[in-house]
Amino acid sequence: MLKDKNIVLGVTGGIAAYKSVEIASRLRKAGASVHVIMTAGAQNFITPLTFREITGNPVITTMWGEVHNYNVEHIALAQLADLVIVAPATANFLAKAAMGMADDMLTTTLLATKAPIYFAPAMNTNMYNNPLTQTNIQSLVDLGWHLIPPASGHLACGIDGVGRMPDPVEILDFVLENIAHKADLQGKKILVTAAGTYEPIDPVRYIGNRSSGKMGYAIAAAAQKRGAEVILVSGPSALMPPQGVDFIGVESAAQMREAVLKHFPKTDIVIKAAAVADYRVRNVAEQKIKKNDDKLTLVLEKNPDILKELGEKKNSDQILVGFAAETQNLLEYAQAKLEKKNLDMIVANDVSRKDAGFNTDTNVVKLLYKNGTIEEMPIMTKQKLANELLSKIIRLKNQ
Ligand code: C5P
Repeated sequence: MLKDKNIVLGVTGGIAAYKSVEIASRLRKAGASVHVIMTAGAQNFITPLTFREITGNPVITTMWGEVHNYNVEHIALAQLADLVIVAPATANFLAKAAMGMADDMLTTTLLATKAPIYFAPAMNTNMYNNPLTQTNIQSLVDLGWHLIPPASGHLACGIDGVGRMPDPVEILDFVLENIAHKADLQGKKILVTAAGTYEPIDPVRYIGNRSSGKMGYAIAAAAQKRGAEVILVSGPSALMPPQGVDFIGVESAAQMREAVLKHFPKTDIVIKAAAVADYRVRNVAEQKIKKNDDKLTLVLEKNPDILKELGEKKNSDQILVGFAAETQNLLEYAQAKLEKKNLDMIVANDVSRKDAGFNTDTNVVKLLYKNGTIEEMPIMTKQKLANELLSKIIRLKNQ
């Protein structure tokens, strides 16, 4: 897919700049022609020579050089680009880009290009979470720039948190996943549920679960990019709703049910990735419960099973996909749910694994189909899995 493509790789001044060498190398091995633009900051971390050797192309470091090795004017690189990747993208760079500044070769090229732009923010957690940075990221996303979300982990500044640049392989996976799929869901209406529900105990407290929403959000984003009209019904989540989806935020299972049932009749495909609470508190206290007694008994009553209701209502053209998160007897339980809820497919998820299930960026699943087929999927990012699932659902729909 990258063969003979001209890719501009923007490198800004973050410690993660060393990882960009591997990005450049992988792009070149994939057959792309890589043109690196480095900011002044980036050159403090790594030398242009490294990129020149890796890419076999001159590296642009300034707008003001007397002799341009590069045989084009600065705008020409913007025109030549089939794709731009900025990795790492520092807070300073994001601020400048969001303001439309053009004070160096990278920002200038980005203002002038019509190619899709991918950016991988990498910085200290507090800098990343700062509302100024978040506002800048949002402005760029609103313009159609593709955000490669930072990973969480140990950062160079010594703290653990969000802001780490994903590994080069993950960055390339992200980009490839995005460009690989055509608008094969054009004209389809897809309803996705995501994250866990909060079941209130009193005005202050709730019963919740560990679902982050990552899988459902990845599905919603992928479906939207492939041309579908997407409604995302989500329980509370720290994630930003993907660009271009119709977002409905809910808290409890009852609210989720109401939203889902309202939109169900007009949807072609429903994917229920939400971790819906099976039980809710029977008598929700109107005031905050005080800690008077040594014991507190909460009586729970069963929540309606939304997916089962959909299974009873669905017509033969509608595709219904559920998730089964289990810690044991995965296939057996998943199979039972597939049948009981009248699903076309169930995604069975062993949540006892470290690399799968709640709050991870990767997932390992087995797919069970109505006709009895079982497919084992290798470990992959949730984004890649989202696209794989959608491709399989399209195949089901066309059968
Ligand atoms: O039965 P279980 O909760 O394990 O089934 C999981 C699947 O059913 C998920 O797709 C989940 O979104 C859905 N579900 C639902 N309503 C519930 C419980 C689960 O739609 N009350």
